[in-house]
Amino acid sequence: MVKILCLAALGLAALSQATKLHVNKGYITVDDAAVRKSINVSPPVTIYAGFDGSSNKERVKPGCSLEASWPGNYGDIYFGADNCLYDSNGSNINGQCCKSSGDLPEVRNPYYG
Ligand SMILES: *[C@@H]1O[C@H](CO)[C@@H](O)[C@H](O)[C@H]1NC(C)=O
Repeated sequence: MVKILCLAALGLAALSQATKLHVNKGYITVDDAAVRKSINVSPPVTIYAGFDGSSNKERVKPGCSLEASWPGNYGDIYFGADNCLYDSNGSNINGQCCKSSGDLPEVRNPYYG
């Protein structure tokens, strides 16, 4: 019985640890999800940004990508208009910014549909 309660408590703790990732400007793709305002996620995730907002294709090459991670107990983080990741105090998290690289694969276009 005690064991089951402990497991339940651990499960709740895990659930409550999701971080709300807010997008300050435009739309981005996080892993395989289009994000237009915010999404609840746990680190790490891959963020794709820098999309051509006028494309109506379902999958497109992003302008940049970022393998993002942060302390899992953060309640809110922000993806800035400058494509960098910020904590709730407005501090850039470990210098993480979305970087362009020559050959990014096509991903879900957050402007599609
Ligand atoms: C923001 O600043 C406060 C006060 O300095 C600090 O206690 C808190 O841990 C900071 N939050 C983050 C996410 O770094």
